[in-house]
Amino acid sequence: MTKIRFHLIAAAAVLCASAASAQAPAKLKVGLMLPYTGTYASLGTAIENGFRMYVAEQGNKLGGREIEFVKVDDESDPSKATDNVNKLIKRDNVDVLIGTVHSGVAMAMAKVAKDTGTLMIVPNAGADAVTGAMCAPNIFRSSFSNWQPGYAMGEVVAKKGHKKVVTITWKYAAGDESVRGFKEAFEKGGGKVVKELSVPFPNVEFQALLTEIAATKPDAVYTFFAGGGAVKFVKDYAAAGLKKSIPLYGAGFITDGTLEAQGNDAEGLLTTLHYADALGTPRDNSFRLAYAKNYKLQPDVYAVQGYDAAQMLGIGLTAVKGDTSKKAEFAAALHKAKIDSPRGPFTISKFNNPVQDIYLRQVSGKENKLISIASKSLTDPGRGCRM
Ligand code: BEZ
Repeated sequence: MTKIRFHLIAAAAVLCASAASAQAPAKLKVGLMLPYTGTYASLGTAIENGFRMYVAEQGNKLGGREIEFVKVDDESDPSKATDNVNKLIKRDNVDVLIGTVHSGVAMAMAKVAKDTGTLMIVPNAGADAVTGAMCAPNIFRSSFSNWQPGYAMGEVVAKKGHKKVVTITWKYAAGDESVRGFKEAFEKGGGKVVKELSVPFPNVEFQALLTEIAATKPDAVYTFFAGGGAVKFVKDYAAAGLKKSIPLYGAGFITDGTLEAQGNDAEGLLTTLHYADALGTPRDNSFRLAYAKNYKLQPDVYAVQGYDAAQMLGIGLTAVKGDTSKKAEFAAALHKAKIDSPRGPFTISKFNNPVQDIYLRQVSGKENKLISIASKSLTDPGRGCRM
């Protein structure tokens, strides 16, 4: 080959490559705002793992666009949330926000997302307001509202015939709303919440309150804690001798992703949640196998929610062919979708929250085993939502 011919071929190849890259749509920037430190650190990691696993299964593209991640550790600190989310939107120019775990942080994110019109999918935080009073057509949730597992457990505990219950939780939106959901159903079913106890988030000094529970002698206790705080609470409840005398019920976060650390102190606990271990469906089996292979860990509810946040983003983006400015079409696609989740299929309500089965589960060894469906297709009432 002559030198001139070689140069001509090389030049043509460069032209072709640059023409192809000119046509490729820009990467879609996904801002992951999650806790990577503190009591909810493992929840943030599980959400990211699940999200990335779904994206990888789709060949690293959603709606025809390659995905690029920008990450921020929100530390579950509401006082830093507005700055953190503004950095993602204004400095990093993210197209979509995925976050977060803590309800207080999520509400600050939702305010900015609503004001700027940025697409947002919440992969955990249950703050009722996010799909209630603060709802917006560009804000969706792949997880639950705090009301949902609480309400389902209120029905279960009332049906068991308990009459007098003490509640104990962290004093912030998630704990308050979980207890409110529980109380609504429990009192409708004939019971009475006689005392509402709380500690500030993320404190784990439970001793004085456990003494108060022992002195009150309720028929049962209802609780919301999660992550590191859930591990400590379950261990302290057993160490105080209460597990033998006063049955403990909770929103499922009290035993999800925590059983390894809680050991025998969690054995037998009954909880309500939109996921359980070993559901035994082909969809869940293949998800669990793939997750364990990728991360050398068993998945939990947080991993499922992360995975489903990516599925929801994929459904919306496919409908708009990757164009995130088409917000109404994006939302319409999600409102008519049936999301093929490892938890079982679910739909998205007109308030943008999952309509889903809430399971009654019982701890057996290292698993939250399915007992029954506590509440079929439970829809959050979306109180205060005007869209
Ligand atoms: C919340 O803050 O909404 C939350 C945190 C951990 C588990 C469940 C809910």
